[in-house]
Amino acid sequence: MKTVTARAPINIALIKYWGKKDRVEVLPFQPSLSLSLDIFETKTTIKEVNLKGFHFLINGKEDEEVKRKTEKFIHLFDSNLSLEGIQIETNNTGPTAAGLASSASGFAALAVAANHFFGFHYNLDKLAAITRKGSGSAIRSLLPEAVAWYPEGHIKAIEFPFDDVVLGVIIINDQKKSIGSTEGMKLSVETSPEYQEWVKQSFIDFEQFQEGLKEENFNKIGQISEDNALRMHHVCETTTPSIHYLSKKSYEVISFIQKIRKNKHFEAYVTMDAGPNVKVLTKIKYKKQIEEMLHHQGIEILWSGIDTKGAVIIDG
Ligand code: ADP
Ligand code: DP6
Repeated sequence: MKTVTARAPINIALIKYWGKKDRVEVLPFQPSLSLSLDIFETKTTIKEVNLKGFHFLINGKEDEEVKRKTEKFIHLFDSNLSLEGIQIETNNTGPTAAGLASSASGFAALAVAANHFFGFHYNLDKLAAITRKGSGSAIRSLLPEAVAWYPEGHIKAIEFPFDDVVLGVIIINDQKKSIGSTEGMKLSVETSPEYQEWVKQSFIDFEQFQEGLKEENFNKIGQISEDNALRMHHVCETTTPSIHYLSKKSYEVISFIQKIRKNKHFEAYVTMDAGPNVKVLTKIKYKKQIEEMLHHQGIEILWSGIDTKGAVIIDG
């Protein structure tokens, strides 16, 4: 019986996507740029089974809502596709729906697995156009390393010149977030007085970040990333009703990292997504000391390297 397994990495944006100019095609207002990370991934298996109906398991459990979304997503390939006698099993190695990009690795792995299992064999552009309709940021999990996603809809691999960069993940809370990114960004587009300015500055950040990459200037890309993330959270806070993804603890961790940068000249910068967790962009040489200093404060950090595989078929 036929079986196909795909894997995809999570990705964390250093230049953030926050707002759709086309909600049907899922086209962003601003270009974004991410790193695919090897810390968490999704593995998704699609197989034929001797059972009636369509079966779906996420992290070993049934989930009607995710099952429905998965079915809807697969029908983007072909609305007449039958899922009779098909089972999908998907596993996230990281927390689900907690601002650590499970939706990104989840839809990228599903897109690649379905493309192969059902025999579409679409090229990257066509596959990307489907993947982003699962979740916008998932489009960037199709590729390894550094990836840009443009307002026109396509993605591109970006040369990332640093081989000593790591990203630390500080899990402040791994529970499901109160307001999802889809709803949060829609409200921001509609109500934040800062929204236009945010879009304008995102284009500048995107250009300058790429200049930083060309110049191999880590401090430049770090500072742009941190400013971009804080600006996104400012947009959320100026949304009506106000969205607060960052908790008191998140802000404490952010100040702590900013302080060691200022006082100890550590090259370390923060970035945060639609949840309270803080990610630290730094270099291997600072890992041990940052870890120890955080540990003294009762804070644990998990380290990630950069993913080099992207979304690929690993079996079948
Ligand atoms: P996150 O910050 O983890 O990306 P979101 O709330 O944006 O959280 O997305 C979580 C949603 O993504 C889940 O409720 C589910 O619909 C979808 N998702 C997560 N993992 C998978 C997966 N492995 N396969 C299919 N869909 C998934
Ligand atoms: C803050 O991709 O989750 O992580 O397209 O509505 O599914 P939808 O939103 P989603 O938003 C991600 C927002 C972000 C920033 C980023 O990853 O660029």
